[in-house]
Parts: sequence; structure tokens; C-alpha cells
Amino acid sequence: MSHIEVKGLSVVFQNKITAVDNVSFQVEAGEIYGIVGLSGAGKSTLIRTLNLLQRPTTGEIWIDGQEISHLKGQELRQVRQKIGMIFQHFNLIENRTIAENIEFSLKAGDYPKEKRADRVAELLSLVDLLDKKDVYPNQLSGGQKQRVGIARALANNPEVLLCDEATSALDVETTEEILKILEKINRELGLTIIFITHELDVAKRLFKRVAVMEQGKIIEEATTFEIFAQPQAATTQKLVGRFFDLTIPQALQSALTGGVLLELRYQGAHTLDPLISQVSKDFNVLIGIIHGKIEYIQEAVIGILFVQITGEAQQIQQAVSYLKENVYAIRDLRDEVEK
Ligand SMILES: Nc1ncnc2c1ncn2[C@@H]1O[C@H](COP(=O)(O)OP(=O)(O)OP(=O)(O)O)[C@@H](O)[C@H]1O
Ligand SMILES: [Mg+2]
Repeated sequence: MSHIEVKGLSVVFQNKITAVDNVSFQVEAGEIYGIVGLSGAGKSTLIRTLNLLQRPTTGEIWIDGQEISHLKGQELRQVRQKIGMIFQHFNLIENRTIAENIEFSLKAGDYPKEKRADRVAELLSLVDLLDKKDVYPNQLSGGQKQRVGIARALANNPEVLLCDEATSALDVETTEEILKILEKINRELGLTIIFITHELDVAKRLFKRVAVMEQGKIIEEATTFEIFAQPQAATTQKLVGRFFDLTIPQALQSALTGGVLLELRYQGAHTLDPLISQVSKDFNVLIGIIHGKIEYIQEAVIGILFVQITGEAQQIQQAVSYLKENVYAIRDLRDEVEK
């Protein structure tokens, strides 16, 4: 298991574009760490520095206490053995069979020749593709190609796996299949995984912690639950907002006159049902539920309800004060409706 620490890393390209701008973070051994961000944020450039496919302009990369950014030759090859990588478009060699694709990596890693066939079989069993050993990449589905990508990345027993948009070319079900394999190798082989993506569904499902990247910088870092429950930076709020996809349907907006319009949020083990009936009864107001969503972020729940409260002004006010004290967060939606 490998611990990774990046300190003050920057990549400035010859055209003066600063793709990575003074980035620092740490990934614990055995962790699944995610980096999310919009297109052009610098995610690929950053992840490519971790195995020195891209040399940083400044900064340090420590892997298990060894600073690697200046390594060359044999030392560089040795470090690269520890780090596997998978890509959005799989990058398989088209005119070689699946077994030969994997063998190619074994050869590059000086794996003993007489043991290679066994190792290929072992790796293909791990990703459940032994029966495809002798076919060519163009005879496989996207999900199967990515499974070969994983097998190949694991060929030389790396301790770290870098994933650059590894599921972004796949449909929802195939993505799930790949995520399950990644979880399995994380658990069983103890691999440290760094996964970059623009898909928050993947983040929610797979990551333990998330960093958000924008214009080359890490603008926010937190546990996955925190990122979804309390996004801080404007870009994170926008990404998470889009993920929850909560807007009041246009058709409903004109009907929502009178009373107050609120967004109520709860999280953890609570639900709002008893609270809503109770408030409605105690303060003699009507509470209509307009829209809502419940998301499970790994083990924990985040619930969001849009409600309209109608009744007498004073009683509405009391009901709102009571709600404020008893939900995780409350927001007035009226401004947004009137926009
Ligand atoms: N080899 C290069 N030379 C010059 N500029 C580059 C190079 N590679 C990337 N860039 C620029 O660096 C910035 C970050 O690019 P990068 O590919 O790292 O973003 P990304 O977050 O991976 O985006 P996407 O989600 O679209 O893959 C972009 O402005 C890009 O145009
Ligand atoms: Mg990219």
C-alpha cells in the first residue's frame, strides 16, 4: 500500500498555460481518492504528473517517502512499476490479442518469461475475461475493453492505480461493473486509487474523499458526504446542484402564489415526514410538498424537500421558526420563483 503526497505542484506548458497551479494534497495508503472538475480544469495533466508521464514545472511528488519528480532511467522505471494507469479510451493495442496486450506490459516490467502465460491467465480471471484471451480489442465491448485495461494496469503488481475518466465512455450499467471491480481490487489487493472524473455519480459511489479542481487549483477538498451535503466553493455548489437537479418545474411556478416557499434539507438518519405533519397540526398551516429528492451518499442520507406553507401570516411565521430549529438547513425559494 502506498501513501502519496503532492506539494506545491505546478505544470506550465510551453504556450504559458498553467494547467496545474500550486496543487498540494495527500492520499492515504489504500484510499480511493477522487478529483472532480469541469473540462479543462487540469485533472488529466495533474494525474499524469503522478507517474511522470508529465514532468511538473515545480513542486514535489512523494510516494512512500521517496520524492520522484526528478527520477530518471532505472529509478524512474522502478517507480513506474508501482503505478498502474487506466484511461477513458482504454488505449489497447488494436493489432494484438487481449493476452498479448497484457503480455506486452509484463515484458516491459521484466516479468520472467516462463511465468508470463500464468500471470496473463491470473489477471484475466481477476477481471472475468479469461474466455476472451485470444480475441482482438475490436471484438470487445467498451466495458470489456476497460476490464482488459485494468488487467493490464495490474500486470506488474502496482501499489497505486491512476484512473483518468475510466468510466466516462461507458453506460451506467457498465460503469457500475467497472466500479465494482475497482472496489474489489482496492479491498483485496490494497491498491491506493486516484480517480479523476467529471461525473458526480461516480464520485458519490466510489470515493472516500474528493478534491474539486478549477483552473489548475484544488479549490475544495472534503469527504464525499461533505462535498454533497455542504459544498463550499461556487463551482462545487453548481456541480452538486446539477447532480441533485432540483428546480421547480416551470408549469408549477405560476400556481405557487401565497404563503411561503421553502427548501428544507435534512441529513443523517432523520426524515421529515413526522416533522411536517406535526408543524402543520401545531401551527394550523397547510404544508404542500412540491418537489423532493432523497440521495444516499454511501451510508448516509441527504434529503431535500420543496414545500409551500399556506395559512395565516402569523402562524406561517411561527411554523417557519419552528422548522428552522428542526431541520438541517432551510432556504427561501420565493426569490428564485420570481426570477
Ligand atoms: N500538452 C499540452 N500543451 C499545452 N496545453 C495543454 C496541454 N495539455 C493540456 N493543456 C491545457 O491545459 C489545461 C488543462 O487540460 P487538462 O487536459 O489537464 O484538463 P482536464 O481537466 O483533464 O479536462 P477534461 O475534463 O476535458 O479531460 C487546458 O487548458 C488544456 O488546453
Ligand atoms: Mg482530462
